[in-house]
Amino acid sequence: MQDTQVSSEVEEVEKELKQSSERFRRSKVQSTTADTEAGPPRPPLKTNAKRLTFQNVEAIAVKKKGVRQEILKKVCGVARPGQLTFIMGSSGAGKTTLLNILTGRNLKSIETDGEVVINGRNMTFTEMKRLSAYVQQDDVFIGMLTVKETLRFAAKLRSPHKLDKNELDSIVDELLVMMSLKKCENTKVGSMTDKSLSRGERKRLAFACEILTDPPILFCDEPTSGLDSFMSHQVIKALRQLTYEGKTVVCTIHQPSTSVYQMADQLILLSQGHVAYAGPANQVDAFFGRCGYPIPKYVSSPDHFMRVISHKSFESEEEYNKRIEKIVQEHEKEKSSYSSTHSSRREQAIEDMDSFPRTWWCQFFYIFHRSAVQLYRERAVLLVKLIQTLIMSVMIGACYFQMTIESQYLPSFKGFAFVSVQMMHMLFMMPAMTVFWKDYPVVVREFQANMYSPSAYYLAKTTADSIQYLVFPVIFSTILLGMTDLPLTLYIVLHYLLVNILLSLNACSIAQSFAAMCGHLATGMTVLPIVVVPLMVFGGFMITYDAIPWYFVPLAWASWYKYGFEAITIVFFETINMIPGCGSANTSNSSTVSPMSAQGNCSTGPKFIEDQAFATSRTFSFDGLSIGNQLNSKGHMDEIIKPGRSYTVNTRMTQKITRKRILRNDGVSMSKMTNELGIARFTVQKIVKNDLGLTSYHLLCGQFLTEKSMESRVEKAKKPLEVLRVRRLSDVIWTNEKIFTIQPSSNCRNHQHLLSKYKAEPPKHRMMFNKLFPKLVMEWTGLTSEGTVPLVFIGRNVNIISEVDQKLVLMGVLRPWIISHLR
Ligand SMILES: Nc1ncnc2c1ncn2[C@@H]1O[C@H](COP(=O)(O)OP(=O)(O)O)[C@@H](O)[C@H]1O
Ligand SMILES: [Mg+2]
Repeated sequence: MQDTQVSSEVEEVEKELKQSSERFRRSKVQSTTADTEAGPPRPPLKTNAKRLTFQNVEAIAVKKKGVRQEILKKVCGVARPGQLTFIMGSSGAGKTTLLNILTGRNLKSIETDGEVVINGRNMTFTEMKRLSAYVQQDDVFIGMLTVKETLRFAAKLRSPHKLDKNELDSIVDELLVMMSLKKCENTKVGSMTDKSLSRGERKRLAFACEILTDPPILFCDEPTSGLDSFMSHQVIKALRQLTYEGKTVVCTIHQPSTSVYQMADQLILLSQGHVAYAGPANQVDAFFGRCGYPIPKYVSSPDHFMRVISHKSFESEEEYNKRIEKIVQEHEKEKSSYSSTHSSRREQAIEDMDSFPRTWWCQFFYIFHRSAVQLYRERAVLLVKLIQTLIMSVMIGACYFQMTIESQYLPSFKGFAFVSVQMMHMLFMMPAMTVFWKDYPVVVREFQANMYSPSAYYLAKTTADSIQYLVFPVIFSTILLGMTDLPLTLYIVLHYLLVNILLSLNACSIAQSFAAMCGHLATGMTVLPIVVVPLMVFGGFMITYDAIPWYFVPLAWASWYKYGFEAITIVFFETINMIPGCGSANTSNSSTVSPMSAQGNCSTGPKFIEDQAFATSRTFSFDGLSIGNQLNSKGHMDEIIKPGRSYTVNTRMTQKITRKRILRNDGVSMSKMTNELGIARFTVQKIVKNDLGLTSYHLLCGQFLTEKSMESRVEKAKKPLEVLRVRRLSDVIWTNEKIFTIQPSSNCRNHQHLLSKYKAEPPKHRMMFNKLFPKLVMEWTGLTSEGTVPLVFIGRNVNIISEVDQKLVLMGVLRPWIISHLR
């Protein structure tokens, strides 16, 4: 009674399917006729039958510590064209593994063996990929695209020939009708968390994507899992429909409902990696009857044999194994009667090339377009990022509001450079990592389907995303520069922007390479800070490059923070001839002396750059020119003193290096050389005097005085001058101290320079013209009888000889000054 009901139901479904298939065929024929009017006729529907046979398929999973698990044991089976073949078995029976082997996918850490034959010819994995489509169990899509867009993208990249717009539209429309997706064609596919399509629709979309290319063989892994019985029926119905076109359809199924099961033509039952039954679906009940497990009344056929081949909780392992062995043996005995001879038509060898259907540029363009659409759809995220950038840049700009290049701002400048570099990382590093992972499963799937090359995907995706890596750094940099009072020339602004853009691109690449190397998002996110933080520490903000212990020097070399910091410092400081406020470092009363200018030699921009242990150069330190410059200043590679060398070394090598330096740069500064060689000043002096027989000279240079510091000096000088009680001008003892000349002197506050003996002129003609000639010079006129110091300021460009000096300083400046200040 029940049987007749079920069979009439099946007949009804069959009839319905055949009708709808006819309708589909007719629509294809019609569209072909329509095309005839517009262009060349499309080829008629081809049956292209493929008979799939697999023999002695074995699979062994190689686990950790060499543990091997046999998954499939000598599995054989046949799938015929125009038939729906079900592979059934309990969970863990090896169904997915079998499909993976047949399609040549996801076989990492699995050893395989056996033959896959199509129409009598052994197939390679590449050939199988080209003949078949595989709908895997979990459906992964780009959630931001609509159903139609997803299909269009797949059609453009999978179709064997380039499609024009009409062809593309008609193919996509046909598939939408065939898979009953027309009503949701403009619905976004949605992600796992943000669902828009139903599971059944997602599944049908996955089929549609796979059958676009009209493959003769279709594999589906658990197409009904997670679907209700109606949905399952709809999905299997769609598969059944494909068999009417002559396709070979193989699908694994776990627990089919009766109506779904009735649609199967052939059945392969797997149990514990063995084939328990392989043959026509309608003979399986009789087979189990012969094995001693006849179907009880009121139990459906699939429920019955699934129960027989499954391990029951109350039975022992032994009992279960015995039962399965018995069934497998029975099947082995009967196997020959099911298996028929190979089809008469032998498959032609398929050209075994692993190329993609579309050219690289086509792939690039289509992926770029898709990524741009994705980016546009996710514009809310971009908006949030824009707001974040605006807030951060205004906040940071407020911290450095009206900062300019002056001694008092030098420590702040370091902070400014640090924040610039750091912000480029903060804004882009972590988000770049997650973007990569969001698309990863889809990309793997599409790559497996031979749609595009990884290089095309990576470059297209990065190019589309780069829009944000260009725009946000520009917004950030513009606001920040606008709020400070830093000197802005086109050169500086463009370079600063360029540095920030490069840093953001770098942050993104680093994040993506870590995500790829770690193979897991969470691991990548944990590992990244472990690498990034030390590189930040040795970026030059917290410790200068020359103070880094030798064993950490490689970290500094690798630190992109260092290069960013170096580039920003150089851009702003290389053209600064004089940093205002730095000269006051030598006077004790100046309140404006910052700790850094007091420590460092910061009177000029290049000196400040050197203070940070960076090389001064018009170009950034990482280009070839700058390396050339560095070598030029340091001389031979031998001259670069290795870190860790002892501080008092007077070796032949040091003598040679010192001599070379003096020869190359006549007038080299003693302190500079001492710093660069990394040995004690005393040692260098000894080498110069005793070993090389040279004399060192002091360069008595003036100091630059700002209006402010001049005033403070006058204030300071007033006090001693008040107690001076000058009666006659001659009471003021004046020493004829020359400035801007080189002469032996013991004045320690001035710079000591070395001149080689190898130049012909006598020392006194070797005037050291400081290229950074100060605007005003101050002369310390010497001690008075009271032991105090009056001051004289002389304008620049005055050639000071003794006569001029007396007239100008004593009569012209000092006298009126004293009169005005003391009387
Ligand atoms: N790559 C692999 N590494 C280790 N074991 C695997 C691997 N793939 C599958 N297995 C094991 O093989 C058995 C069969 O898996 P599978 O083919 O997915 O079963 P089914 O699809 O029938 O549920 C399971 O026990 C599974 O743990
Ligand atoms: Mg499975």
